Amino acid sequence: MCSRERLAAQRIVCASVAGRGILVIQDGDTIVACERACPHEQADLSRGHLSDGRLHCPHHRASFDLDTGDVSPGWPCRPLRRFGVRLDATDIWIDTHSIAELL
Ligand code: FES
Repeated sequence: MCSRERLAAQRIVCASVAGRGILVIQDGDTIVACERACPHEQADLSRGHLSDGRLHCPHHRASFDLDTGDVSPGWPCRPLRRFGVRLDATDIWIDTHSIAELL
């Protein structure tokens, strides 16, 4: 999906799998893949920012826990969908089966 070097430099990398917008995110030692559209009103989370293990939406400022997908308190939306990743020495791969289950 992308190289570990690129992700370390950018921290948020956009990708597309089976027509779905996906983000690959690195926050410290944590690497996760998740949907690109915010579960609240579909803002582009690639324009958000990372802090304290959370991805902050650029539109209304809800935030999502990178480990669980849970949304910050008080927001009427489901958790952020996260997808399995596999790492090798140089690259990061996304588990396409976990995405296909959502199509
Ligand atoms: S669109 Fe993301 S918090 Fe509203």
